[in-house]
Amino acid sequence: MPVVKNSKLIYIAHPTAEYQPGVHTKYVEEELDTDTVTLNGGILVRLIAVSSDPYMRYRMRDPSIPMFAPPLIIGEPLDNFSVGQVERSEDAQYAVGDYVAGYFDFANYSVYPGKTTHQFKFCVKVPKIPGLPLSAFVGTLGLAGKSAYTGWVLYGVEKAKTSKTLFVSGAAGPVGIFLIQYVRHTSPHLKIIATAGSAEKVELCKKAGADVAFNYKEVDVTKTLAEHGPIDIYWDNTAGPILDAALSNINFFGTIIACGAIAEASNDPNAYVKHFGKIFQHCVTVHGFLFRFGPEAEAASDAFDKEIPPLIAAGKITVHEHRFEGLKEAEKALESVHTGTNFGKTVIIAGAE
Ligand SMILES: NC(=O)c1ccc[n+]([C@@H]2O[C@H](COP(=O)([O-])OP(=O)(O)OC[C@H]3O[C@@H](n4cnc5c(N)ncnc54)[C@H](OP(=O)(O)O)[C@@H]3O)[C@@H](O)[C@H]2O)c1
Repeated sequence: MPVVKNSKLIYIAHPTAEYQPGVHTKYVEEELDTDTVTLNGGILVRLIAVSSDPYMRYRMRDPSIPMFAPPLIIGEPLDNFSVGQVERSEDAQYAVGDYVAGYFDFANYSVYPGKTTHQFKFCVKVPKIPGLPLSAFVGTLGLAGKSAYTGWVLYGVEKAKTSKTLFVSGAAGPVGIFLIQYVRHTSPHLKIIATAGSAEKVELCKKAGADVAFNYKEVDVTKTLAEHGPIDIYWDNTAGPILDAALSNINFFGTIIACGAIAEASNDPNAYVKHFGKIFQHCVTVHGFLFRFGPEAEAASDAFDKEIPPLIAAGKITVHEHRFEGLKEAEKALESVHTGTNFGKTVIIAGAE
């Protein structure tokens, strides 16, 4: 009987401010008999890669607080967008050896669907794409790429036709880099202004196609945008002071595409917006959206599957990963997307392909 080491990351306490490794989560090593573990008609998945995403912080909350993402459960492993391989199967849809993308536990081996179930759980078979790591299914080909594509095709493309400038915050992450590359390719007339939190990230934005890129920690963002604006379209990955600076420089009839609000994810009281009045004063339209939430976002996500793989094959869209090797490093990976120490799509590599 193959008894294997099964490393896991367990959720143990709700943070009130920043997430802290070892305080809110705990790494454990257990043993598992992969031959005898009960599947209840499901599958046993061997984890290959699991994603660290900013929104996981929203899942770290008291379950009585309603929100778009299901809460993590104290005492249970974390789960998130993942890719793995079927180790055992009691479900005719999946054969041993199939590669699957889904919402799996932070554990070397876990049963899908398993006992913790919620609306984000899914599992689909995926092919191995030559030249791409399977982990791309949790980044450029997954939540990050598809969210950038969805927000842009729903709310950016039409507006771009009569616009001159696009400003992108949180621009060096997988959402931002996808967006810059896609917009550079499809709306080449736009002046793309990007901001991120280090010199290395600023260079990545330029390489991806930004015309202007700067480190928001080192300059006066409001003044810098005044030099390069006004802003016709603002892609907001951060909210907080950068959103305020964008509002100060938004053009009349400008558009804000609200993708994320990482500046306020950990309840920083200084992160809230002061220039809300600019929205009516400059006749601004704000569009929020969530990945695959509602029929239009679902349709956009499906359209992605036809349009984007050829652009990746042609090198127009590239995959940048920050890999954390082993589940023992998962806590650092979760923390990194909030401290900004990640560089590229943050993935935890849990096992071989
Ligand atoms: N609407 C949706 O369905 C959807 C789907 C996916 C992602 N999102 C959102 O999109 C945004 C980008 O996601 P991602 O996966 O590409 O993230 P990411 O770039 O890999 O990680 C987040 C980055 O945000 C920056 N950051 C952290 N705290 C900040 C602060 N206080 N002010 C400004 N920047 C800060 C850091 O980079 P710096 O070094 O630049 O500070 C960090 O690396 C996030 O807000 C995420 O929640 C939304």
